[in-house]
Amino acid sequence: MTRILGIETSCDETAIGIVDDGLSIRANAVATSLAHHAPYGGVIPEIAARLHVETIWDVLSQALSEAACTLDDVDAIAVTQGPGLPGALLIGVAFAKGLALAMDKPLIAVDHLAAHLHAGEMAQPGLKPPYIGLLVSGGHTLLCAAYGEGKFEVLGQTRDDAVGEAFDKVAKLLGLGYPGGPPIDRLSEEGKADRIAFPRSSSKLPMDFSFSGLKTAVYQHLTTAKNAPGVKEVQRIHDRQAIADVAASFQEAAVDMLLTRALRACQRTGIHQVVIGGGVASNSRLRGRFADAAASKKLHVVFPPPALCVDNGAMVAGVAFSRLQRGELASLSITADPDRCLT
Ligand code: KG4
Ligand code: ZN
Repeated sequence: MTRILGIETSCDETAIGIVDDGLSIRANAVATSLAHHAPYGGVIPEIAARLHVETIWDVLSQALSEAACTLDDVDAIAVTQGPGLPGALLIGVAFAKGLALAMDKPLIAVDHLAAHLHAGEMAQPGLKPPYIGLLVSGGHTLLCAAYGEGKFEVLGQTRDDAVGEAFDKVAKLLGLGYPGGPPIDRLSEEGKADRIAFPRSSSKLPMDFSFSGLKTAVYQHLTTAKNAPGVKEVQRIHDRQAIADVAASFQEAAVDMLLTRALRACQRTGIHQVVIGGGVASNSRLRGRFADAAASKKLHVVFPPPALCVDNGAMVAGVAFSRLQRGELASLSITADPDRCLT
């Protein structure tokens, strides 16, 4: 049995997981600095990095106590090297190097996006590549084909905002607070998704995404809506049903774009398995629409449970297992690589 401790600090979660043989989760401890960013309506990199420093030892203690083990019982230390916020990544990388050096353990540098996809394999241990990966978070919107360990082909990416960022910005326009995905998801249940025909972007690159036009369309709708004629402050719309209709119509357009690109990727590659990861993968409408598509188009769609969709240390420890087996170790001279992408 090989036990790996995985450290994740790429954004606002300070997370450490302990996983046996790449699949069996012993601990998945997370501390989030979300509340500290909420007043600003988005993640402030300096605050995220400072809070990683403040909480990482506590998160380590929590993970070791959850797994009922000590650092001596761990065979290797894995860490997210990138992509992510440079200052935030640096804390995790420095901490991991310190642990590896002090405990004389091998170090494995992990790609954050590959880790998100590995969460699908942890959620469903029988799952084997090839599969289409759809990564949807506050920082990323990316479609790829996963052919095997470390073998990815990027099929499409967002040309502007990430889809989670679009949820967050639209929620801000609607006065729903930060992060915006969960309240839009909840409020949309009361709204009519076909009430407003928000645009679905198209591109010469058929598997690329764009969400800035959709976000602008929501803003324009709000500032010219019938019940706020000529008023530029969107807060003037007080009607809960009207807000719910905007939320549901926006969500439908965003989910439509994700679904159509993913289906296109399946059609073009002939791959019929899809793994969806990242915070937006918790969205109930996204899950529902993919479940319908899975049934009608005979696809196998994997949504990891929410604890494995958001940033977490277990997925980092999990994806590191095969790298350790292949002897792909990192040296103690590595640093953060904010631009790393599916390597
Ligand atoms: O993966 P994640 O926890 O952090 C990174 O961005 O790396 O994703 C956070 C994003 C936020 O933009 C948040 O609004 C969105 O995921 N999100 C959701 C839902 N839950 C979280 N978006 C739509 N529906 C949800 N239920
Ligand atoms: Zn992430």
